[in-house]
Amino acid sequence: MPNKHLNPEGIDYKLFTPGPVEVPEWILNEMGKANDTHRSLAYREMHQSIRTNMQKLLSTKNEILIWANSGSGIMEACVRNLVKDDEYALFFTCGAFGDRWASMAKSNGKKADVIKVEWGLGVSPELVKETLDKADKKYSVVFITFNETSTGVLNPLDKIGPIVRDYGALLCVDTVSGMAGTLIKMDDWGIDVALASVQKCFALPPGIAVSAISDRAFEKAKTVENRGFYLDFLSLQKKGKNDEHPITPPIPQIRALKVDLEHIIERGVEQYAKDHSERTQLIRDWAVKEGFEIYSPEGYHSQTVVAIKNNENGPFKGDPALVAKFVDAMFERGFKIVNGYGKQLKGRNFRIAPMGWVTTEETQQMLDAATLAVQDALK
Ligand SMILES: Cc1ncc(COP(=O)(O)O)c(C=O)c1O
Repeated sequence: MPNKHLNPEGIDYKLFTPGPVEVPEWILNEMGKANDTHRSLAYREMHQSIRTNMQKLLSTKNEILIWANSGSGIMEACVRNLVKDDEYALFFTCGAFGDRWASMAKSNGKKADVIKVEWGLGVSPELVKETLDKADKKYSVVFITFNETSTGVLNPLDKIGPIVRDYGALLCVDTVSGMAGTLIKMDDWGIDVALASVQKCFALPPGIAVSAISDRAFEKAKTVENRGFYLDFLSLQKKGKNDEHPITPPIPQIRALKVDLEHIIERGVEQYAKDHSERTQLIRDWAVKEGFEIYSPEGYHSQTVVAIKNNENGPFKGDPALVAKFVDAMFERGFKIVNGYGKQLKGRNFRIAPMGWVTTEETQQMLDAATLAVQDALK
């Protein structure tokens, strides 16, 4: 039986949300297959295949860990495994998820300095360089968000990575909503931890997360006390090297990730990312044609989620109620998109994300519906 979700109008709606996203039926089918245990050969083969293909995806030789938690778990793990209590960490934040990472450090008792960029803007390489050059203390780890889902901003990690590497700190990057949908050259860019949840550009249901971690980061973790049990880099590394997991992981999701990665590799890592860029470009073009502005500045546009401003001179004249009506009208027309993030951005913008395996054709259908939904909202 086809696996569908229906809106109140009885229409099979499609998700254009920034995670969780539309999951193709072939992924759902994979999850429904019979399980073996996590100590079986069948499991080890899946684990091994994911490690190999993830390295291809990220252009890295670094170790791949599979986590039985969402992306936030790895974010907390980075803080606990890499920052000693008497060291300082530096966070660059430009939105809600960057802010959350910095607050995780503080709630784990770590010393963290936070450089906040105004929401809607990106973290420039110049800002990173200037901050590190002028620092009155030595930072052991730098934390940054690659693709800030709350604001639709993509930070230039290809330029920021080498600056942090030159300075001598470890670099942890939240690529939760960027990985796979945007090309990442982990080794060339000098990233020590790249982490992601699977409910974004991998198009799996939520539940597991993945990371690539450099040898430098594992070496550092060996010197950090109180890393805990569940989120310990070293225990996951030790078991992972034998394609095993320290605890009982969600096997159906891992099976789906294995097959998903095979499809991504078959499509081509660059092509899969290009598919995302082309779809987000279509959305930005539509928004501008309708009289909206894009929230992110030129050069910092996310390639996986578009945040569209409810500008004063745009169709909704800055009225937050009309964004809500538009989002509802889209749902009635069979497409789920989302309002602006949290209290700060609700009504001030809205977001559309063509992540995963949605096609250009489906994106165009969604935009045709959006043109009509703008008129619905204005009625
Ligand atoms: C950029 C970013 N970081 C972190 C997270 C948190 O990920 P999770 O919900 O998988 O823990 C999200 C979730 O939307 C995100 O978009």
